Amino acid sequence: SNDHIDDNARRYGTQAITAAAERLKVGGLVAVPTETVYGLAADSTNAGAIADIYRTKGRPDFNPLIVHVPSITAAKKLGMFNVLAEKLAKDFWPGPLTLVVPKTKDCPVAEAVTAGLDTIALRCPAHPMMRELLEISGLFLAAPSANRSGGISPTMADHVARSLGNAAPLILDGGRCQSGIESTIVAIRGNDYQILRPGPITAENLQNTTSQEAVSQRSTAVEAPGQLASHYAPSKPVHLNISQAQPDTYLIGFGLVAGDSSLSPSGDLAEAAANLFATLHVADASDRSQIAVAPIPDAGIGAALNDRLRRAAHQD
Ligand code: TXA
Ligand code: MG
Repeated sequence: SNDHIDDNARRYGTQAITAAAERLKVGGLVAVPTETVYGLAADSTNAGAIADIYRTKGRPDFNPLIVHVPSITAAKKLGMFNVLAEKLAKDFWPGPLTLVVPKTKDCPVAEAVTAGLDTIALRCPAHPMMRELLEISGLFLAAPSANRSGGISPTMADHVARSLGNAAPLILDGGRCQSGIESTIVAIRGNDYQILRPGPITAENLQNTTSQEAVSQRSTAVEAPGQLASHYAPSKPVHLNISQAQPDTYLIGFGLVAGDSSLSPSGDLAEAAANLFATLHVADASDRSQIAVAPIPDAGIGAALNDRLRRAAHQD
């Protein structure tokens, strides 16, 4: 299933989606566009295919995967939805929100998808190509971001090819990802909810819909194991909150800080999120030995941007 990238003409249109569905049905991997980042997809009920995802990404096996579904009805076959979960799904699906809920008793996904947890992460994506793929295949698709584990997330088909190299499977090219930052992950805890990963659906968005605040993160347990300190990391040192050009450093600008390129000259946080990973890819490929990033306000989706930047800058 892992054809060499040279044999791997990018395919467009419904024909490509049909070919992708066929490959997925026989246990193959396909890189798929979503509105957040590109995913590396496989049939969530096929243990061999799921093992291939972990192998291809070099992902530790304690880090569970998100399963993508076409609808709330489909989601309920895999996870148990209480009133709060249902409300969030109704208000934000299809879209960049992942809900962590208890698994159903007869949940058909392979054990490795949930890495032994009794909860499952579910998301109904908005990208039209991904929606068509879910519909045509009839599969529930497990899909982590389509990059080597720990690397910069892909927001263009080219990023997938570069990150996975010869291991890149068929890539469905759906253009640039609109949000550009991974989905917000929310865990349902009875009548409360907890934000495990900030993303395009902001804390304010969640609070407005539920009329309640998120409960705060438990500090000890690694609830979203992918939320390790070092992640999204370029191959070079990354410095944050830098407003001035530095020697041999690629400066990523924002607002009044122009930089070598800017996430958003006008200081628009959604635009900055859409550009974040592509700009990190460019900075990583530049001839400078270091990367610096201008200060980003923490409001709204800025919280998600700063979360990704802190992990990109963390050295372990
Ligand atoms: O936007 C996205 O969510 C993208 C696109 C492709 O949908 N996917 C994505 O997947 O970001 P990934 O694997 O890079 O991140 C999934 C995160 C990890 O941090 C993982 O630990 C967490 O979801 N996760 C999965 N299942 C979980 C569970 N049962 N409980 C807590 N966290 C879970
Ligand atoms: Mg990822």
